[in-house]
Amino acid sequence: MGKFQIITHPLIQHKLTILRQTKTGSKDFRELVNEIAMLMGYEVTRELPLEDVEIETPITQTVQKRLSGKKMAIVPILRAGIGMVDGFLSLVPAAKVGHIGMYRDEETLKPVEYLVKLPEDIDQRQIFVVDPMLATGGSAILAIDSLKKRGASNIKFVCLVSAPEGVKALQEAHPDIDIFTAALDEKLNENGYIVPGLGDAGDRLFGTK
Ligand code: URA
Repeated sequence: MGKFQIITHPLIQHKLTILRQTKTGSKDFRELVNEIAMLMGYEVTRELPLEDVEIETPITQTVQKRLSGKKMAIVPILRAGIGMVDGFLSLVPAAKVGHIGMYRDEETLKPVEYLVKLPEDIDQRQIFVVDPMLATGGSAILAIDSLKKRGASNIKFVCLVSAPEGVKALQEAHPDIDIFTAALDEKLNENGYIVPGLGDAGDRLFGTK
């Protein structure tokens, strides 16, 4: 079973509390999502492998460390996932960014994929799928299905707020992936919103209704 980790860093928890509040407007909301994504990026890249490299400083030759593992890809689930990309990219600017878009079918209420645009060598990359909200888990499961269909195997899922229902569904569907969240909330309500949550992350990021 992959790891399930709540990132309890005080800065993340503090910023998340501001993010949740109704009075926080789109500009601050966007900035906070970015900042939290960056802080989470710092935590979720903790175990990236290193290798020795010989370098020359102005003083001497020395052996130091550099990243040795796979190249990275950040894959936001549209729309709200886009809000987390810049924060991640500020830490790993060489990462490529793929996009997976989904809409909810009005009749079945299930997510349907409408866009998949990924780096060509996605099967070779360490992938971070990002979406601020893990609610029912439907979009995350479908996005990861889609990545695995294209040969991807190293996948970590990173969200800000999760519901127990979504975590369980994602773990059951994809037991191999690691899940990182800044908060595990109480439940989903009858409309599929996370309680207490923060409302519709996409609408709050982009100022729509
Ligand atoms: N998506 C959101 O944006 N918010 C929720 O509470 C659930 C799903």
